[in-house]
Parts: sequence; C-alpha cells; structure tokens
Amino acid sequence: MLTILFLGDIVGEPGRNAVIAHLARLKESHVVDFVVVNGENAAAGRGITPKITIDLLRAGVSVITTGDHIWDQKEIIAFIDTEPRLLRPVNYPEGAPGGGSIVLETGKGPVGVINVQGRTFMQPILENPFPAVEKAVEQMRDQTRVIFVDAHAETTSEKIAIGRFLDGKVSAVIGTHTHVQTADEQIFPGGTAFICDAGMCGPSSSILGRSINPIVNRFISNLPAPFPVAKGEVRLCGVVVSIDETTGRAMQIERVNELIAEPSPQPAPAPATASQQA
Ligand SMILES: [Fe+2]
Ligand SMILES: [Fe+2]
Repeated sequence: MLTILFLGDIVGEPGRNAVIAHLARLKESHVVDFVVVNGENAAAGRGITPKITIDLLRAGVSVITTGDHIWDQKEIIAFIDTEPRLLRPVNYPEGAPGGGSIVLETGKGPVGVINVQGRTFMQPILENPFPAVEKAVEQMRDQTRVIFVDAHAETTSEKIAIGRFLDGKVSAVIGTHTHVQTADEQIFPGGTAFICDAGMCGPSSSILGRSINPIVNRFISNLPAPFPVAKGEVRLCGVVVSIDETTGRAMQIERVNELIAEPSPQPAPAPATASQQA
C-alpha cells in the first residue's frame, strides 16, 4: 500500500508554519509515503515565493500544487521552470512557464501528480480542463499507475464531474480552492478516491483564512480594502489516501482536520532571589 498525505490550500505564515511544524508528526502517524500540498495562498494569502517553495520541500513535501493565485508573487514566473515539483494548472495555454504534472520515484514505485483548474466562476478562464487532464493522464500512464489529481475549482459540480470523468483512470481526484473541507470523501466505482474540497491549512477564526471584519465590511460596503491573513489557532485540513500501488486503485480515503493550538507564551522567568544572585 502506498499512502499519500494531501494538505489543502496553505494560507499565509500561520498556515505554512503549522504545516512545517507538524508535517513530520503527520507523516509518522499516518505512515505516509508521499506528501502533496496546495501552496497557492502560502505567501500572505496570495501566491507562493521561491523561498516558501524551498521551505516546504525541505520540510518533507514532495510536490506543491497551486491554482488561480499561482502568479501573484511575480518572482515565481522566472523561478517555476527551475523547480518542477512546483506545479501550475496543466490547462494553461502551451508556452506558459512551468508544468502542470510530474512523476516522481518513491520507495514504492513512481507517483504522478497533476494540477488542473476549473473554469466555472474562476479567473483566469483556462483551457477546457477535461481534455487537458485526460491528455496529462495519458502522457504519464506508461510511467506510473498511481496518479494523484488536485482539481482546483470553485463549484462542487465541476469538481465532481472531473472526478467522475477520471474514475478508473487515476488514483485520486482531490478538490481545492474553496478552503472549506467537505464531508463527501468516497471511492468511486472505478477505484478513484474523491473529495470535493480538502479544506485549507490556515487560521481557524477567519473567513477562508483572512481576517473576519475586513471581509464582512467588504460585503457590506462594496469598497476595496486589504484582506490581511487572520491570526490565531490554525486548522490543518486535508486527506490521507491509501492506494494499491500495483493497480493504482484507491483503497481508503480519510479526512485530516486538526486544530493546532497556538504555542503558549513562555512564562517570564521568576526574579532571582538574593542568594541566587550571588
Ligand atoms: Fe486557495
Ligand atoms: Fe484558488
């Protein structure tokens, strides 16, 4: 059995610090062989930087997927071709920087990862995700039976449609982008594990990882305003998928949803007594 841990959209410094601090424990407790995270909001909620990419890979992440925020940090445009483990959606037009898929070796054989972006209520509107992801699957089929797809999309219907379309062709289709974990994890009849949204890794007391009041005020006023990443306890959300590596069929999908308590501040040292001062 080959076990993949996937963690959903990492939001800002609180999200990435929690992922980096807790990844080794999660890998051990779930007996994980391969880690995929979505990093599209890792840099202050908008995009990902080269340094954050390297920090996540060094912490034990195998592949970083993204989505509509991939280019928000401009330095990533020049960097992405130097780091094939950082994916952008596969359905960008030909000639776009970076790649949307990768196959990596593990101790239990090769694992393929594909990142695809939906088009319904999404910007930018990319090429049709269905033929694009099908082509990417066909291209890696002779290299691996284990294929993991991050379907980054707004609507549940488009994500379920991508999952059903790929049922029996890939090991897992895991939804991202909406930052709220859904409770529909299942294995489709063809052996593809699916969930509409893995959820995010970011501040729990927030609106999709951002501070609550600015977002509420934006809905009320319709005026532009900054949306800072929230503070406080972080919730780590994702899934663990167990796959028969000889067939590529998913055998189990389990949600990860952990509230990480803020580290309590160190108590101030007691004032030294007269005798200690000697
Ligand atoms: Fe996101
Ligand atoms: Fe997104």
